[in-house]
Amino acid sequence: MKIVSIVGARPEFIQAAPVSLALRREHHEVLVHTGQHYDDAMSRVFFEDLDLPAPDYNLGVGSGPHGRQTGEMLARLEAVLAQERPDLVIVRGDTNSTLAGALAAAKLHLPLVHIEAGERSFNKFMPEEINRLVADRLADLHFCITRRAVQHLAREGITKGVFFVGDVMLDAVRLYGPQARCRAPALLARLGVEPGRYLLATVHRAGNTDHPGRLAGIMAGLNAIPEPIVFPIHPRTRQALARYGLTAGPHIRLIDPLGYLDMLALESHARMVLTDSGGVQREAYFLGLPCLTLREETELMETVEVGWNLLVGTDPRRIVEGWRRFRPAGPRPPLFGDGHAAERIAAILKASPPRFGQHYRRPERILLPAHALEHLQTR
Ligand code: UD1
Ligand code: UDP
Repeated sequence: MKIVSIVGARPEFIQAAPVSLALRREHHEVLVHTGQHYDDAMSRVFFEDLDLPAPDYNLGVGSGPHGRQTGEMLARLEAVLAQERPDLVIVRGDTNSTLAGALAAAKLHLPLVHIEAGERSFNKFMPEEINRLVADRLADLHFCITRRAVQHLAREGITKGVFFVGDVMLDAVRLYGPQARCRAPALLARLGVEPGRYLLATVHRAGNTDHPGRLAGIMAGLNAIPEPIVFPIHPRTRQALARYGLTAGPHIRLIDPLGYLDMLALESHARMVLTDSGGVQREAYFLGLPCLTLREETELMETVEVGWNLLVGTDPRRIVEGWRRFRPAGPRPPLFGDGHAAERIAAILKASPPRFGQHYRRPERILLPAHALEHLQTR
């Protein structure tokens, strides 16, 4: 098959790596980079670290307001897909690149595969939630990272073409973990921290960076924690700190965004992570790293329920309290599969290649009872 894989943002490069490895054994993959992330530290380093093939297309869309960024991607992706006419299109996760890729494929009647389908925060103010809802609605095949995600889709009436395969980010940790661990001693020495005696922080969600009160709360919390903190900072967050005049205390090492191997090396030796990232929450769980999530809700409620993730929001008192008290010790059930999700995805695609619209049918029965419909009509 000819498969177009669409990527654009940092976590998508990481996800693409194991999937590319598995797909390229038997298929022709065309990798399309929308250009959503473009700094070397946000893009090039991941292609190097992960040995990802160079993109066949880089659409160079760059940053911008949601409508313009997504619209530019849609127009450029449409041209690429019309030219390539692939057998299927793969999008992942919940970024604007995901949304544009899903729309472009569907408009050209190309079978669409969504990896990381069914994730829900139930917070529609998140741009990611809107992107996921649309991608899931349009996809012909849904690959879920947890069983909970399968249930979310079922609640929305999506029950066909849905597979729990596990998380390809766990595949990435399995594949690249050994390389990352080799880097750890030199990296920790360079940063002046010792194994098990530092915290790791990341912040980039629009809900935090675009809200001065919330970002101030997070910085006040981090500043009040008397333990070394390594804080690789997303460009959006660096800009926001400058804009709101927020500063980090001397125990916080504010550094440029890290490549994947360095990030994994730091996660492997941190004592705890404080983050609003979806990927980092998951990696913390894989690695048995206690996680304080700097949000009021998460897509990953299972990790909270089993006791390895604590929602602390952005109130500095809750952040410090979490840092002081949170010591998870219970088991970590394999919520995210076994680290072989990409192979499972490749096998399913081979056994039953998706067809456009294959599961989109008139329902066999209407779920609402007749009297409820009458009630609706008379109002
Ligand atoms: C995007 C995704 C988010 C994902 C994150 C991963 C959307 C709506 N959001 O958020 O779901 O978690 O990527 O990191 O798609 N910038 C640079 N250099 C870059 C990239 C971005 O300076 O290489 C700056 C620009 O000022 C830009 C801002 O960061 O406006 C935000 O970038 P954008 O890609 O729009 O969203 P992210 O916050 O990165
Ligand atoms: N990551 C990285 N360098 C960093 C911060 C994060 O390599 O400086 C990795 C992190 O380990 C995870 C992924 O990027 O694999 C998560 O991406 P991000 O937090 O940007 O987005 P999200 O997962 O929230 O969509």
